[in-house]
Amino acid sequence: MKPVKIGLLGLGTVGCGTVDVLDRNAGEIARRAGRGIAVVAAAVRDLARPRGCALEGVRLTADPVAVVDDPEVEVVVELMGGTEPARELVLRAIAAGKHVVTANKALIALHGNEIFARAHERGVMVAFEAAVAGGIPIIKALREGLAGNRIEWVAGIINGTGNFILTEMRDHGRDFADVLAEAQRLGYAEADPTFDVEGIDAAHKLCILAAIAFGIPLQFDRVHVEGISGITREDVTFAGELGYRIKHLGIARRAEGGFELRVHPTLIPERRLIANVDGVMNAVLVKGDAVGPTLYYGAGAGADATASAVVADLVDVVRALTADPENRVPHLAFQPDALSDQPI
Ligand code: NDP
Ligand code: HSE
Repeated sequence: MKPVKIGLLGLGTVGCGTVDVLDRNAGEIARRAGRGIAVVAAAVRDLARPRGCALEGVRLTADPVAVVDDPEVEVVVELMGGTEPARELVLRAIAAGKHVVTANKALIALHGNEIFARAHERGVMVAFEAAVAGGIPIIKALREGLAGNRIEWVAGIINGTGNFILTEMRDHGRDFADVLAEAQRLGYAEADPTFDVEGIDAAHKLCILAAIAFGIPLQFDRVHVEGISGITREDVTFAGELGYRIKHLGIARRAEGGFELRVHPTLIPERRLIANVDGVMNAVLVKGDAVGPTLYYGAGAGADATASAVVADLVDVVRALTADPENRVPHLAFQPDALSDQPI
């Protein structure tokens, strides 16, 4: 069978990581998906910039609309970040009946309700595993592994850059700004790193987790947001002397009359598992009424780890493309009609 042809919007950290993983694990991926996956087109801003990934046979352009409209492209993979033009491009792909994979949490958190409604009408999939907690398959865990549970709460470290900064300040006494610059060099940070250090990125992710866990619409403006920019080395040291670690947490839980969503720095006793999640690693705890507490741990940012989640979504999309539409596994598509209107 011919490979499924995909178009990438963006060839930065995650875009190149995706090309690498698709290339490196092509055999396994094709076996699991039922068909191979070939990148045929990609859009970037700067055509002259050298790319660190193999792009033979890929049509490069500075016009992302050309990738979306390319008749050969069956699946559009949005890895450019930001809300515009990403939103317009994703809606254009959906209108053309193309499935979409994205790692863009800002886009999903702020425009997901509109995007999923359009995707539902058009009968296409919008998959976004990479948007939350990097390589940890937390969206799948909530939708599939915990599908039999009433979720009581979700809590975790969901920004790798922030956790890397707090860890380096504690373990090596480094300056906040110096570690942030390293996180940017390593490709962990957002294009605008204030999203990482002011808690906005974690809030985007938390609102996505809450929508899936509780079946509520995405409501980013209802999240209480506090970042780590006010935390000093002295704070981290004093916390350690008292037997605590400072961790930036996202917490979503049922509360009287609705739900409570908040992200903020928290003092956690050193003996707790989550206090020992260090560096770029993320960890998400989910409490279901049947299963009890469960913990998911892994790299929260970086090229390969994020590509792992993007490619997993691509495998789902390819399986769905190959299956009889009547027999598609329904959880692979977001189902906005399953959302309730309960206030947060
Ligand atoms: P980068 O900044 O490294 O890459 C963005 C890419 O998009 C670049 O190739 C850039 O082109 C291209 N691009 C941006 N705007 C346009 C435009 N208007 N037209 C054409 N091309 C454009 O970002 P990341 O790879 O780090 O992140 C991509 C997405 O993945 C974001 O939504 C981010 O939040 C998300 N994400 C990132 C993770 C990470 O660890 N980095 C982890 C999980 C999710 P050029 O290279 O020429 O500038
Ligand atoms: N900037 C994000 C982080 C990327 O550091 O967690 C992964 O979503």
